[in-house]
Amino acid sequence: MRLICAKNYQDMSRKAANLISAQVILCPESVLGLATGSTPIGIYRQLISWYEKGDVDFSKAVSINLDEYCGLSPRDTQSYSCFMHQNFFDHINIDPRRVYLPDGMQTNSTLECARYDRVIADNGGIDLQLLGIGRNAHIGFNEPDSCFACGTHQVTLTESTIAANTRFFENEAQVPRQAYSMGMQAIMQAKRVLLIASGADKAEAIRNSFFGPVTPQVPASILQLHRDVIVIADEAALADCPAEA
Ligand code: PGA
Repeated sequence: MRLICAKNYQDMSRKAANLISAQVILCPESVLGLATGSTPIGIYRQLISWYEKGDVDFSKAVSINLDEYCGLSPRDTQSYSCFMHQNFFDHINIDPRRVYLPDGMQTNSTLECARYDRVIADNGGIDLQLLGIGRNAHIGFNEPDSCFACGTHQVTLTESTIAANTRFFENEAQVPRQAYSMGMQAIMQAKRVLLIASGADKAEAIRNSFFGPVTPQVPASILQLHRDVIVIADEAALADCPAEA
């Protein structure tokens, strides 16, 4: 693991955007695994700005998102599809035919999970996987559990994730209780993983994930076994890490 300490959120966003931009410049056909949440927003803003200046071209890139709420259509403003369009896709030149998210409206979870795993496989896997991290160390919606989920799966969100995500909804009752999430296999098979974290409320998750035992109770800890993981975190998120890190 390479741990890059950023001064603050803006610095973290810029450093991470640099790596994503370099990936797309070096390989325009890159398959990007993208993430929602508050943390990546600064990265997307930076990439949009570089795109507008002509510095990076997404026309041949593929995007495969980590997850989607069950029961929300792509047009629902709370859906992750809508989030990605509003915060990124609608502002760059990515081909809409190369943008993939799980279909939250598919009620047959077996079919949807198999379809999404096929999407990942048909695109040859992920070149660069961007990950945020939950306060409970979830990645995507891979929540703490007794085992690591392998393929795309339907998840029941934990109370802490529902509470954390309530800020995006009018009230807690509106937060969907289930989601489709990419599993650990696709994440671990990504050629490179870029995990970002900002703020003191992520410090415990970062310490447990990268300086504790590998256990499905701490989902992001599996990344200790990945060959090419870059963690870009700001000082607040690194505050609980051992001094020698
Ligand atoms: P956040 O979410 O970026 O909104 O903190 C991260 C996550 O839950 O994966």
